Amino acid sequence: MAPHPLSSAQQQSVEQLLETMTLSEKIGQMTQPEKNSVKPGDVTRLSLGSVLSGGGGNPDPNTPQSWREMVGAFHEEAQQSRLGIPLLYGVDAVHGHNNVVGATVFPHNIGLGATRDADLVRRIGRATALEVAATDVRWDFAPAVSVPQDVRWGRTYEGYSQDTGVVSELAAALIEGFRGDGWATPTSVLPSVKHFIADAATTWGTSRRADRSTLATDRTLAIAQMGQSFVELLDLGAWQIDQGNSEIDEATLRAVHLPPYQAAIEAGALNVMVSYSSWQGLKMHAQHYLLTEVLKGELGFAGFVVSDWEAIDQIHPGDYDRCVVDAINAGLDMVMVPFDYERFIASLGRAVQSGQVSESRIDDAVRRILTAKVALGLFEHPRTDPALLNLVGCAEHRTLAREAVQKSLVLLKNVGDVLPLDPAGPELLVAGEAADDLGAQCGGWTISWMGGHGPVTPGTTLLEGLQAAGGQVHFSPDGVVDRDYPVGVVVLAEAPYAEGMGDRSDLSLSADQVALLERVRARCTRLVVVLLSGRPLIITEQLPQWDALVAAWLPGTEGQGVADVLYGERPFTGKLSFDWPHSHADLPRRPEATLLFPLGAGLTTDADSIRFPGLQDNAKV
Ligand code: GLC
Repeated sequence: MAPHPLSSAQQQSVEQLLETMTLSEKIGQMTQPEKNSVKPGDVTRLSLGSVLSGGGGNPDPNTPQSWREMVGAFHEEAQQSRLGIPLLYGVDAVHGHNNVVGATVFPHNIGLGATRDADLVRRIGRATALEVAATDVRWDFAPAVSVPQDVRWGRTYEGYSQDTGVVSELAAALIEGFRGDGWATPTSVLPSVKHFIADAATTWGTSRRADRSTLATDRTLAIAQMGQSFVELLDLGAWQIDQGNSEIDEATLRAVHLPPYQAAIEAGALNVMVSYSSWQGLKMHAQHYLLTEVLKGELGFAGFVVSDWEAIDQIHPGDYDRCVVDAINAGLDMVMVPFDYERFIASLGRAVQSGQVSESRIDDAVRRILTAKVALGLFEHPRTDPALLNLVGCAEHRTLAREAVQKSLVLLKNVGDVLPLDPAGPELLVAGEAADDLGAQCGGWTISWMGGHGPVTPGTTLLEGLQAAGGQVHFSPDGVVDRDYPVGVVVLAEAPYAEGMGDRSDLSLSADQVALLERVRARCTRLVVVLLSGRPLIITEQLPQWDALVAAWLPGTEGQGVADVLYGERPFTGKLSFDWPHSHADLPRRPEATLLFPLGAGLTTDADSIRFPGLQDNAKV
């Protein structure tokens, strides 16, 4: 049980403030709209406790300075409210301050899991906190402590690993990085440990999130700007498992999915975000047993619990007042209500007036919110130092990201030690548009919610990294060349996605990718494949044609980190943080599944390291 985050004097000051608050002000503190919905003056008028930027909720122009100006305006409004309770602004900085053009974008969690390096993740947490605080933001909806069980899930890459111990260790490290020299210091950032609980244990086909008949009016899914391709994605399995139902028993839930929350609370986390998913048929946002009895009671969590985006609406579709009553009574303390925040405020006010929600429940919720705000020192210093803006995307952070990329790469096949390559060797053929696509190497949650292709933000592509190493490189996006090459490197990528938009029933390579591989295979003596993906893909049929395979995951803006290791500047040291399935029949993961590579697999090119036993040259694959 973690000690209470506040001194007794601080706890007393929270009680005194609580006593002075009106019911409306209390409910205002429990309300978190999205920044595009908030009418000017409403933060002041309603004493709103928080505002968020959803995925891609960016100012225009999208610069660190304009982010700071946008967020600062909301802080100013909060300070003009009757009690001047400071605002908490929240963002999804899930791999660096990824919504901000020019920020350092680190590898997504699946790559960090492959590093098994807690100190690295702690340093990334600190660098991320500095870049987030530079924009006057002190709340980051990270880390996801999901423990993915089915890599068809579009949020697999937000998880560090399928292994609970790896998730617990790395999540605690990131939180320590967010905390820095203490929660009360001006550059600490409040983490949001998410999504409670067993978000990653849902069953394929049980999600009800996307209804084809309401696509045109779904304000949230419209943000993804998928257009006609949305229907195509639904045919590929989009929104089939994300936000679905988890059927695991309580023993499994406690053994696999609860420990990361215990580790996060021990590390001082003061916010938890609830999962959209259901457990045994009941929406997590209505689970009093897990939210109140387990999280707040058994685990002693003294912080506050926030809903996910519009999530309470899913409890009783069409009966909003019942959603509000059941969510707040289950243990929600703050509600992320991106659009109709005044409807929520009015509904909760009626619930309290009618006695369906007690004043003591309201007080408990607001006490928890104020506890986090006092712990962060927001009453003493509600604004951060604008000089921090110099740190956004700074060389030091990009060097750290490059180190993370180097350590995240997993070498899974290396017949005849074709890797590392010799930059002074014969001209290298590099093929595949993905080799020169910064957006593809960053993945989802980058500048926009879903991410995108091309130069979405400043960084270095894998190709640019190879070219900067000084070797002779011939780049052929389509793999059509007029001569043979000793070595060909083919870079393949998943198209960027986020959340359920990335749920896929088929994880095979596309026909175009297979054709590209065949073209290059015919033109080179040795073939190296680099995968930029948010999860293991089904590559069993093609793998025997490859001399080397590198899993590069979603490395972010510092693509030269991949080139460093391909050219032997740094050894391969990464280890799979997920089982690599042999076929779709082996999903979801289970003891009897057949694997192409097991959790922990990874060859090394570090002569001093012990090579991974049993997979020396992968001759059999
Ligand atoms: C999203 C995600 C959650 C994110 C939140 C705010 O739907 O589920 O991870 O923090 O909304 O963007």
